[in-house]
Amino acid sequence: MKILRARDYTHMSRQAANIISAQVILKPDAVLGLATGSSPVGVYEQLIDWYRKGDLDFSLVRTVNLDEYLGLSGSDPQSYRYFMDRHFFDHINIDRANTFVPDGLAPDAAAECSRYDALIRRLGGIDLQLLGLGHNGHIGFNEPDEVFTKGTHKVTLSESTLRANRRFFEREEDVPRFACTVGICDIMQARRIVMVVSGADKADIIREAFFGPVTPHVPASILQLHRDFTLVADEEALIKV
Ligand code: F6R
Repeated sequence: MKILRARDYTHMSRQAANIISAQVILKPDAVLGLATGSSPVGVYEQLIDWYRKGDLDFSLVRTVNLDEYLGLSGSDPQSYRYFMDRHFFDHINIDRANTFVPDGLAPDAAAECSRYDALIRRLGGIDLQLLGLGHNGHIGFNEPDEVFTKGTHKVTLSESTLRANRRFFEREEDVPRFACTVGICDIMQARRIVMVVSGADKADIIREAFFGPVTPHVPASILQLHRDFTLVADEEALIKV
């Protein structure tokens, strides 16, 4: 595990964007595993900036997102598909047909999860997975559990995650309670993993996840065992380690 210490959110975003752009330059048809949430927004902004300057070309890149709420269509402003379009895909020259997010409206969630796993395999696996870190140690929507879940699956979101997501919805009852997420095994099989973490509110979970035992009660802790995992975190997030 490698830790890159950043001064602040902007610096963290730039360092992670550097790693992603190197991947795209070295392998123009790379498969990028992508995340939503506030942590990677700055990374996407930086990549868009370099694309606009002519330094990056996404025309052959394929992307698979980590997760999607069940019950929301891709045109719903709260969906992760919508998030990705607005924060990244609308601003670069990626072929939209090469961007994948689980279908939140799939009538059979289990079938959608199997289809998504098969899709990741068909793409040849993930070259570089970008991650954020939940306050309870979740990655994707792999919540604390008794075991590490393997492939893409349907999850019931934890109370802590529902509370964290509440800020994005007008009414509490609108916050989706179920999601489809790629599993820990899919994430661990990525050839390279980069996680971005910012802010003092993540300091405790950084210590638990990366300076404590590997346990499914803190899903991100398994990343300690990945052979090419880089944590890019700002000073505030690293204050307790
Ligand atoms: C989002 C995702 C989540 C977030 C995590 C942190 O696709 O998979 O695991 O990365 O909840 O969210 P932020 O960055 O908003 O603190």
